Amino acid sequence: MKHIRLSIIGFGTVGQGLAELLVRKQAVLQQQHGLEVTLVSVANSRHGFIYCKEGLHIPTLLELTAAGRPLQEHPHIRHWQNALEGLQATGADVLAEATGTNLRDAEPGMSHIRTALSQGIHVITANKGPVALAANSLLQLAHQQQVQLRMEATVMAGTPVISTIREGMAGAQISTIRGILNGTTNYILSAMAAGRDYAEVLTEAQAQGYAEADPTADVEGYDALAKTLILAAVVFGQPLKPEQVAWKHGLSQLNCL
Ligand SMILES: NC(=O)c1ccc[n+]([C@@H]2O[C@H](COP(=O)([O-])OP(=O)(O)OC[C@H]3O[C@@H](n4cnc5c(N)ncnc54)[C@H](OP(=O)(O)O)[C@@H]3O)[C@@H](O)[C@H]2O)c1
Repeated sequence: MKHIRLSIIGFGTVGQGLAELLVRKQAVLQQQHGLEVTLVSVANSRHGFIYCKEGLHIPTLLELTAAGRPLQEHPHIRHWQNALEGLQATGADVLAEATGTNLRDAEPGMSHIRTALSQGIHVITANKGPVALAANSLLQLAHQQQVQLRMEATVMAGTPVISTIREGMAGAQISTIRGILNGTTNYILSAMAAGRDYAEVLTEAQAQGYAEADPTADVEGYDALAKTLILAAVVFGQPLKPEQVAWKHGLSQLNCL
């Protein structure tokens, strides 16, 4: 049985979803993949970083989070207020980085990912910022450190577009990628194509949880911008700066310059 010590930094929708899956899929991971995953540390911005060498109890973590109580209430843990310091002090085999996307400087995710890779920790990330702004240098660092940096969840979340292109279509020469890269936008555009009004459909999408309360990143195109930067870097090996991508504000229609 292969044993992996996992750290999750960013314990919101994605981080908690991953933790839930680890519980739900525990038997499948063990029986079909010979893999045992121990969640040794978790961090959010309000409560900081908690660590337990023997493994955190995921149902307790989820209950604490759902009740809005501090993660430090988990028994037998060590605590750091700062996730970076906690990770540096404790280590892991794999870091799942799931803090919020920020396209200005990609922090705090950039520091979490760089630190982990530098410490020889494999990284999987859903955070678009670091990969959008520095995919190639992060991949180079991962290569130097002989660890993996995986970013499938940054583009089209559960649909494996990056590995399909990089691995499944290895050897093919990709000349163009076209598509609607943002789920909220896709929902709204589909409804508008059926004659519905933009504002009405946005309100409906928010009520149903497809759109954020603040939909700016989705409907103004910033989310699609980040995904375009990631695809340009990892599919075409062409690192672009945000200002090299043109888009029409209002709904995410992007054209690479
Ligand atoms: N949700 C999706 O469907 C989806 C799909 C694909 C990609 N993504 C990307 O995945 C990432 C996470 O998304 P999400 O929906 O889970 O966001 P979220 O619910 O806002 O969670 C973000 C988490 O990061 C934590 N955090 C922020 N700064 C931190 C710091 N300095 N140290 C430690 N933790 C910190 C937050 O702490 P608090 O809880 O204390 O605020 C929160 O737990 C984002 O980059 C997003 O773009 C999301």
